[in-house]
Amino acid sequence: MDTVLSGIRPTGNLHLGNYYGAVRSFVKMQYEYNCLFFIADWHSLTTHPTPENIQNSARTILAEYLACGLDPEKATIYVQSDVPETLELYLYFNMNTYLGELGRVTTFKEKARQQPDNVNAGLFTYPTLMAADILQHRAKYVPVGKDQEQNMEIARKCARRFNNIYKTELFPEPQNYYFGAEALKVPGLDGTGKMGKSDGNCIYLCDEEKVVRKKVMRAVTDNGPQALNSEKPEVIENLFKMMSIVSDAETVKYFDEKWNDCTLRYGDMKKQLAEDMVKVLNPIRERIQEFSANTELLDKIARQGAERARESASATLKEVRKIIGFRI
Ligand code: TYM
Repeated sequence: MDTVLSGIRPTGNLHLGNYYGAVRSFVKMQYEYNCLFFIADWHSLTTHPTPENIQNSARTILAEYLACGLDPEKATIYVQSDVPETLELYLYFNMNTYLGELGRVTTFKEKARQQPDNVNAGLFTYPTLMAADILQHRAKYVPVGKDQEQNMEIARKCARRFNNIYKTELFPEPQNYYFGAEALKVPGLDGTGKMGKSDGNCIYLCDEEKVVRKKVMRAVTDNGPQALNSEKPEVIENLFKMMSIVSDAETVKYFDEKWNDCTLRYGDMKKQLAEDMVKVLNPIRERIQEFSANTELLDKIARQGAERARESASATLKEVRKIIGFRI
């Protein structure tokens, strides 16, 4: 059975971008594949070196994932820092990845701009740690949003290069997995291209109904359509994109026609959008509250998951050590 791996940094609550970009695919896949899901708490140190309570942040994400439908009976769920085997593989991949390749990664360049006083080596080698996360389980599919494409390219390079250098076929080249036909980038509500926790433009899965409505009503728009059948400016395109993600096709078509004949009122469209979001979010939020209250269950799931993940990682690592020539 093919293996699937998915991960998230515990630097905030899950938002709709995470949900539609990655979580929903994973929940669907857990019944058909050997699925592992992990919380990338080491990765979060690249931008948040002094987390307030990292174990609690991991629990929060875990509760949110379970609320979305992740099934601990089906999927292995673990916390990255509970699996030290990952680090040895990370070291080997660092030996075969070149500075030029890592320096070209857009997320690295962006973060380096955002935190000029902390352009650390962990940030630079973020993609090789991600490659180790994936390849230690020899995962074939990784459900991700569009923002992870470059990191995934490096993961494939790590697999390919290791296989070439050591004349082996140990690692499969992991493929990006998308829920629909192509990579998804859920837009933010501030007119910017991407919903992201550091941008303050998010709808969180745990947001109360009235918060969701308020955020949506405040979403950035313009003066409205000025000519029949005109092209939509980016902010409006984003609003429609959001609607096409959470609402049904009929609803999108209705507002699209209104845009085309210049009778669209953004207020009406936003009200509908908020309504459809609330429908998706209400049951999830209720389950988040239930799971969050049960820290004993969350810790048990993470402990069991770590055991299984370590087993899978050490089997790969044993092969790797043998192939390179180290004592096993
Ligand atoms: P992170 O924590 O930024 O996001 C987790 C997942 O959510 C997706 N995502 C989005 N998808 C569509 N539209 C958006 N606006 C949006 N925002 C976030 C991301 O694509 C991601 O799939 N590097 C990873 C964590 C990681 C990982 C891994 C993932 C570490 N090792 C190994 C997979 C495999 C990250 O920062 O995701």
